[in-house]
Amino acid sequence: MKILVTGGAGFVGSSLALLFKRDLPDCDVVAFDNLRRRGSELALVRLRDGGVTFVHGDVRSATDIEAAGAFDVLIECSAEPSVQAGYGASPDYVFQTNLVGLYNCLEAARKYSSRLLFLSSSRIYPIASLRSLPLVVENTRLTVPPGAEGLGWSGNGISTDFPLTGSRSLYGATKLCGEHLAQEYAALYGLGVVVNRCGVLAGPWQMGKVDQGFIALWCARHLFGGNLSYIGFGGMGFQVRDVLHVDDLYRLLRIQLGSLKSGDYFTFNVGGGVKNAVSLAELTSLCERCSGVSLEISGRPDTHAADIPWYVTDNGAVTAATNWRPEVSLSQLLDDVFSWLSEYRKILEPILGH
Ligand SMILES: NC(=O)c1ccc[n+]([C@@H]2O[C@H](COP(=O)([O-])OP(=O)(O)OC[C@H]3O[C@@H](n4cnc5c(N)ncnc54)[C@H](O)[C@@H]3O)[C@@H](O)[C@H]2O)c1
Repeated sequence: MKILVTGGAGFVGSSLALLFKRDLPDCDVVAFDNLRRRGSELALVRLRDGGVTFVHGDVRSATDIEAAGAFDVLIECSAEPSVQAGYGASPDYVFQTNLVGLYNCLEAARKYSSRLLFLSSSRIYPIASLRSLPLVVENTRLTVPPGAEGLGWSGNGISTDFPLTGSRSLYGATKLCGEHLAQEYAALYGLGVVVNRCGVLAGPWQMGKVDQGFIALWCARHLFGGNLSYIGFGGMGFQVRDVLHVDDLYRLLRIQLGSLKSGDYFTFNVGGGVKNAVSLAELTSLCERCSGVSLEISGRPDTHAADIPWYVTDNGAVTAATNWRPEVSLSQLLDDVFSWLSEYRKILEPILGH
């Protein structure tokens, strides 16, 4: 079996590629990436040492994908992953990579009759609807009041029943269009497809930036020093996300791949869930505990047009279908990230510190 991981030098792609190769040593695992994300080049040594073949290429080019050769499974992790992409700037890169690039990947998958695991995002849910949830402040976080619920939301999180009408950012729109395209490829050409709409993913080798990968960024700034701000929603740091360790995502993909058949099409919300939900202010306390460093964090009340105050994943459907549930706690996850930052400080500080 050959697995092609597009975006295979990125945080999620490289982690998955190495774990698949570790557990399925007879399998050819190829990581395909154009190394656009700063820090992705650091994956090349890890991939080589882990027995994963690296192919430099761009999903925007069908010829590049063809050069990676035939495959049986495609794990699509290449993306412009920032929800802020295209705001005040051209949408060209996010559109060409996330949508045209996905189309090129689907065409290759059709040619080779491969199965597809597509990493979608919680950001396919509309911004205005998520902002209008009746949240209340409880200590240092926003939360859904006990007993409150509506279509697709409750204190347990957001499920796939959450209504899809409304604007969601260009990033979210390209992901949702990608899901629709993948569904058509399953229906028309018999591709087996699983779409996982992931909430925040984190773990070692995430090259965190302000607009994407905030867990790694928060940890790194505590350890290496630098600026952090609570941006938006009053600038208090009360906004909440649930966080899933990339190892937990891998365990899910293994299960899904084990039973995925031609023509199947599944869509799940996947994330750390209620137990792994945290506000930025709480994350600061956890990082202080792990690093022994206390930073001055400024508040910037203005909210970015794409930002949302609260997102927690309701894993009910994916757990019912696969028996999978997150196993890595938030504190274990932070321990992992801090150990990684300490071990590779020399190469990481220029990228993640400031
Ligand atoms: N990290 C998260 O919290 C999260 C949450 C939900 C969904 N996702 C999705 O998971 C996938 C992986 O995200 P990530 O966090 O690893 O991001 P990442 O930026 O670390 O990885 C993406 C990789 O894609 C590569 N890439 C970008 N444009 C490319 C192109 N045109 N051709 C080939 N490679 C290209 C980048 O160089 C990078 O290595 C993305 O599809 C993202 O939308 C991530």
